Amino acid sequence: MDGKVVVVTGGAGYLGRRFCSAIAGIGGIAVVADRDIETARQIAAEIESAHPGLAEAQQLDITSKDSVAGLIEKLGNKYGHIDGVVNNAYPRNKNYGRKLDDVTYEDFCENVGLHLGGYFLVAQQFGLYFSNQGYGNIINISSIYGSMAPRFDVYEGTSMTMPVEYAAIKSSVNHLTRYFAQYFKRDGIRVNTLSPGGILEGQPQSFLERYDSYCGKKGMLESGDIIGTLLFLLSESSRYVTGQNIIVDDGFSL
Ligand SMILES: NC(=O)c1ccc[n+]([C@@H]2O[C@H](COP(=O)([O-])OP(=O)(O)OC[C@H]3O[C@@H](n4cnc5c(N)ncnc54)[C@H](O)[C@@H]3O)[C@@H](O)[C@H]2O)c1
Repeated sequence: MDGKVVVVTGGAGYLGRRFCSAIAGIGGIAVVADRDIETARQIAAEIESAHPGLAEAQQLDITSKDSVAGLIEKLGNKYGHIDGVVNNAYPRNKNYGRKLDDVTYEDFCENVGLHLGGYFLVAQQFGLYFSNQGYGNIINISSIYGSMAPRFDVYEGTSMTMPVEYAAIKSSVNHLTRYFAQYFKRDGIRVNTLSPGGILEGQPQSFLERYDSYCGKKGMLESGDIIGTLLFLLSESSRYVTGQNIIVDDGFSL
């Protein structure tokens, strides 16, 4: 990845920061692109202390065309190339995460619009830049819930659920990957999906036990467990892989 510029949207978030540090760890320049610029600066500074010159923070709102196009222009002028984008931000409104019965039409539309619409905008704008450049790599971060029906039993007795918007968003992200891969395949652009299972982040024990009972030996994964697949998709090792969805979940979705 030496000198390759890779933008991670939502780069200041839980998974995004791990992605950025892994990219810098193998010589790429990680652009920590997030709406939360303060946290993005902190994350970039932490990565830079271990990998000087290999991280920078940029403010980005994936739901604004001006913001996405402005970032592309800025980075294009600075580096002369952008090699990849990881579509990873996680916008949601204050009512996101309610159980099905309580989701209003307005909240459904807003959450789908922010997340799916934002992923579309990022893929569209970077795709057009990559098309002019003659190469580029788009990785859409989806979820097992883009491919499988929810297992509601794992949430019993907790305040958690698998939001209905998430099913609509992530299944659409999976298919947009194929659409964009087809549209851009003759321009040297690859588009793939990485679908993680749930990632450990202080979830209730009862939930974890039920979740783990559907998995292989590991159970719910840690953020580091999906890094290898991200780097594979970013690297030349996957140069003829496009339009695919790789699920990393220790077998939960089987
Ligand atoms: N954490 C998990 O268990 C898990 C599992 C499977 C898939 N995923 C997917 O991974 C991705 C990242 O999830 P996460 O858990 O790290 O989320 P997170 O909430 O920890 O981080 C999301 C980041 O996105 C940023 N963001 C929100 N709206 C934005 C906008 N409009 N423009 C730019 N940045 C914005 C936030 O500031 C935050 O830093 C999401 O697509 C999520 O669906 C997460």
